Amino acid sequence: MIDLRTKAGGIELDTPLILASGILDENGYTMRRILEAGAAAVVTKSIGVDERNGYTSPVVFEGENYIINAMGLPNPGIEEYGGEIKIAEEAGKPVIGSIFAADAPTFLKLAGEMVDYGVSAIELNLSCPHVKGFGTEVGSDPTLVKDIVETLKASIDIPIWSKLSPNVTDIVEIGSAASESDALVLINTVRAMAIDINARMPVLTNVYGGLSGNAIKPVGLRLVYEIKKELDCNIIGVGGIGNASDAIEYIMAGASAVQIGTALWRKGRGIFDEINQGISGFMKDSGIGSIGEMIGVAVQ
Ligand SMILES: Cc1cc2nc3c(=O)[nH]c(=O)nc-3n(C[C@H](O)[C@H](O)[C@H](O)COP(=O)(O)O)c2cc1C
Repeated sequence: MIDLRTKAGGIELDTPLILASGILDENGYTMRRILEAGAAAVVTKSIGVDERNGYTSPVVFEGENYIINAMGLPNPGIEEYGGEIKIAEEAGKPVIGSIFAADAPTFLKLAGEMVDYGVSAIELNLSCPHVKGFGTEVGSDPTLVKDIVETLKASIDIPIWSKLSPNVTDIVEIGSAASESDALVLINTVRAMAIDINARMPVLTNVYGGLSGNAIKPVGLRLVYEIKKELDCNIIGVGGIGNASDAIEYIMAGASAVQIGTALWRKGRGIFDEINQGISGFMKDSGIGSIGEMIGVAVQ
């Protein structure tokens, strides 16, 4: 009997597959459908205090095995978002509230409202690479990261996940600063750009965006592995997962669960069942009975 259950970031999951923040998750109905299609949990779009429209188009560039996006954190603002969470929660599975802010008091306010909306955990976006004043600008300062994580851990009673950026020199330094979190989520997108050679200008209005999709899997894996080797903490892997063996690689590098973003955008909701079945098949063929038997086994 193959057991796909896992405990990640302080919550119990039926399978290791979670929807990553920012892909089809601004809306409660799409989140509910993704949960019904086999995701064990969803992370919401990152929500801030005020409504933001994001950048003007073009905000996405599609390459062969990657996309580059600079959405600009569009979101309805925390006051308007509770209804979407309630709809997603009808699926009876964990909904994780992703939030972004520039300082600890604002993160705390947003987290408190997410708790009131009934989420199972909070994911701190400390890593968006393309919005001034937020994301990586916050998440690359270890003192600020420590302050935010410790402030939230002191007052919020549900698990706190910290989503980290690959766009830093020393991931272990930032991971240590966030080590009181119930999970470190690695990685957000890699800062990147594309140029339109006919127009002789950058493709994205914001010039810089975040690279995601299969192209970033080796980077994400390396960062998960490095953190697992150096720190004693729970890890959730994300970045370029598009099939079962990608997910298993992350688990063997140390992740207790994984998130899927761009592959859902590209392949549709069936991706969750497809990967779950692929993981089960691999475990059956290899005589592995539980996800726990695979976590971190490749770390030397
Ligand atoms: C269109 C798009 C929007 C995203 N928005 C967010 C966001 O709001 N908050 C966040 O933490 N990450 C956001 N991400 C990053 C993803 O959650 C994920 O970390 C990244 O895309 C790598 O995973 P993937 O290769 O499976 O997409 C976004 C990614 C994409 C492609």
